[in-house]
Amino acid sequence: MARGPARLQFRVQLRFVTEEQLFGAGPLSAPTPKSLRLEVHPAGEEADATVIDADGVCVFKCLLNRDTECCRVGKESVLITLGYNSILLKFESPADLSSFSNTLKRCRKEKKESSVFSQRTEEASAVQYFQFYGCISQQQNMMQDFVRTATYHRAILQNHTDFRDKVVLDVGCGSGILSFFAVQAGARRVYAVEASSVAQYAEMLVKNNHLCDKIIVVPGKIEDISLPEAVDVIISEPMGYMLFNERMLESYLHSKKWLKANGMLFPTFGDIHLAPFSDEQLYMEHYSRANFWCQHCFYGVNLSSLRAAAVDEYFRQPIVDTFDIRILMARTVKYTVNFMDAEEADLHRVEIPFEFQLTQSGLVHGLAFWFDVAFVGSLVTVWLSTAPTEPLTHWYQVRCLLHTPLFAKEGETLSGKVLFVANRRQSYDIQIVALVNQTGFRSGNILDLKNPFFRFA
Ligand SMILES: C[S@@+](CC[C@H](N)C(=O)[O-])C[C@H]1O[C@@H](n2cnc3c(N)ncnc32)[C@H](O)[C@@H]1O
Repeated sequence: MARGPARLQFRVQLRFVTEEQLFGAGPLSAPTPKSLRLEVHPAGEEADATVIDADGVCVFKCLLNRDTECCRVGKESVLITLGYNSILLKFESPADLSSFSNTLKRCRKEKKESSVFSQRTEEASAVQYFQFYGCISQQQNMMQDFVRTATYHRAILQNHTDFRDKVVLDVGCGSGILSFFAVQAGARRVYAVEASSVAQYAEMLVKNNHLCDKIIVVPGKIEDISLPEAVDVIISEPMGYMLFNERMLESYLHSKKWLKANGMLFPTFGDIHLAPFSDEQLYMEHYSRANFWCQHCFYGVNLSSLRAAAVDEYFRQPIVDTFDIRILMARTVKYTVNFMDAEEADLHRVEIPFEFQLTQSGLVHGLAFWFDVAFVGSLVTVWLSTAPTEPLTHWYQVRCLLHTPLFAKEGETLSGKVLFVANRRQSYDIQIVALVNQTGFRSGNILDLKNPFFRFA
């Protein structure tokens, strides 16, 4: 499926720099009159860098790896030191330097240990995650979510004044679809950052759509790459199930380090909604799934000692599907994350207190969740909603069961809290506690958002 990293080519000028010149004791030699070709061939964790002149003669060659000594000089040059000799490579544009620097960074494994992303993520989780997004079919799934893609298109194009002649950053560009929308809205340049191997396909689409002068695909994680300039607008689609799953919102917030002081974020904020629901069938279905483990003679083996563990495991699964809104027993409680103000650490632990006034009597089986995001542009605010009252999206809605249903009457209050605690598997442990104030009945549950149960099929 994924091919190896592609060979890179740049036009450069080259100067050999002596120690005296480096320390200011001698004049720099004149730069090479004609531009040369720098070819970078990645090979595993290293890369060969070769500078070739117009006659095809190699004038300089070195290996880029973790021992390579180098530093950036100004906006367009990089200094590489080999033993007593240094060379200064001057690139034709900041974008070329940025692309080369990112390759260099990967070879030198710079920031590998200190990257915000790798610190908060188990290696195995990251590998699986980016393999998933490396598949064209997964990008297609998202692109074919009409509500999602059409709403992004509308949000960007209807706010064309925010994009006209602007520099844009697309965080997690995938196929690059949002970058293309930004160009359609008039963006001068778009940096399309993508960590999975789908970056190479985004690059192919950019080339084939003749937009190499506008869209610069930057392979790598937003936490690790560098850009040659600050940006006016950041666009991204970082929402997971229940808004928070995948922890990509943190990468989105991280990307603000590239945003100019008065820059804009698309989306601008997100609202998560929750409401108690009653669904006896769903609750019984979950118990019945565990009934397999009640068998005393399964091919002669007694399975019943695992029944309790099976019930526990199934109840830890948030349920992804949709439902009739008549199961909802109260008006929703809303919790807002303002992406303009929030910092990554704000999403490590999210506590949502609730107090619902019940609008009907019955058994509360759990809490239902969904989210909306808003694109606040200069011309219009556009909403993308995953509410059960709106057309269905690939996020569906998510329900979390209580271990024991709670009986409550119309007019009574259900209070408590939902606590999201981020984990290193790019997801959250969810803790719910709920209390019927008038009777003192209590229930709750602890769920694993990384392992949802997909019930919609
Ligand atoms: C939900 S998809 C959206 C893709 C595309 N923007 C779209 O709207 O169709 C998220 C993309 O972000 C990428 N991604 C996730 N975390 C990232 C990070 N820290 N740095 C760069 N890319 C990341 C994933 O590989 C995936 O392709």
